[in-house]
Amino acid sequence: MFAVCAITLLCLVALSHSAPLACEDVARPVDQLDPRFLAGSWVLVAGAMKDQAHEEKFKTRESASVHFPSETPITSFSRSFYLNESCQHMESNITVEGSGFSFDQLTNITVTFLHTSCQDCMVMRFDDGTKKTLRMYLFSKRRAVEEKEMEEFTAQAKCMNMLPPVVMDPTKELCPEKVVREEEETTGQA
Ligand SMILES: *[C@@H]1O[C@H](CO)[C@@H](O)[C@H](O)[C@H]1NC(C)=O
Ligand SMILES: *[C@@H]1O[C@H](CO)[C@@H](O)[C@H](O)[C@H]1NC(C)=O
Ligand SMILES: *[C@@H]1O[C@H](CO)[C@@H](O)[C@H](O)[C@H]1NC(C)=O
Repeated sequence: MFAVCAITLLCLVALSHSAPLACEDVARPVDQLDPRFLAGSWVLVAGAMKDQAHEEKFKTRESASVHFPSETPITSFSRSFYLNESCQHMESNITVEGSGFSFDQLTNITVTFLHTSCQDCMVMRFDDGTKKTLRMYLFSKRRAVEEKEMEEFTAQAKCMNMLPPVVMDPTKELCPEKVVREEEETTGQA
């Protein structure tokens, strides 16, 4: 078996993959964001923070989701949190560029999407103005991911010197997506 492996390229690739991967491979940014992939709602599965204070704040959220519009280019996204038995919504204007986006209002924060082997997941890395990573989030179309997929995120967080990920409880209530535009129209007519 090994002799066969040694002479085939496929096996060489398989062998090299079984060795621990370097951080630049594990936590590699995506080459180019695909807006069609981002469009829609994503549920927060886990988050990894740089500091304890942030982690405490993070833990007060019972669930969270993000929503990207289907229009291209994407110029905004919204977040919904279930916190203290009520829903909170935030809408941000963003500028998408390369493998991530920047916030139009929060000028010091940049977001980079990392490569992940999980097909229906996205990993977001938040950096400050000096490119130091502050936090990382694993989102999915599912409420929870497989153990192997969580292991990959844990390795990514470790590479960026984050605390071990905090996994969200998939049984907690999710907030519905708030349709901001409709609400503004209603208010305008009142
Ligand atoms: C949660 O909500 C209750 C009632 O609205 C409020 O009294 C309390 O201060 C809130 N707790 C936090 C941590 O925001
Ligand atoms: C986001 O952009 C829209 C349209 O350009 C604008 O009306 C809105 O005020 C902006 N939101 C914020 C929070 O600046
Ligand atoms: C952005 O970061 C720089 C350098 O760390 C800091 O001086 C500035 O106050 C920050 N700006 C905002 C809006 O946070």
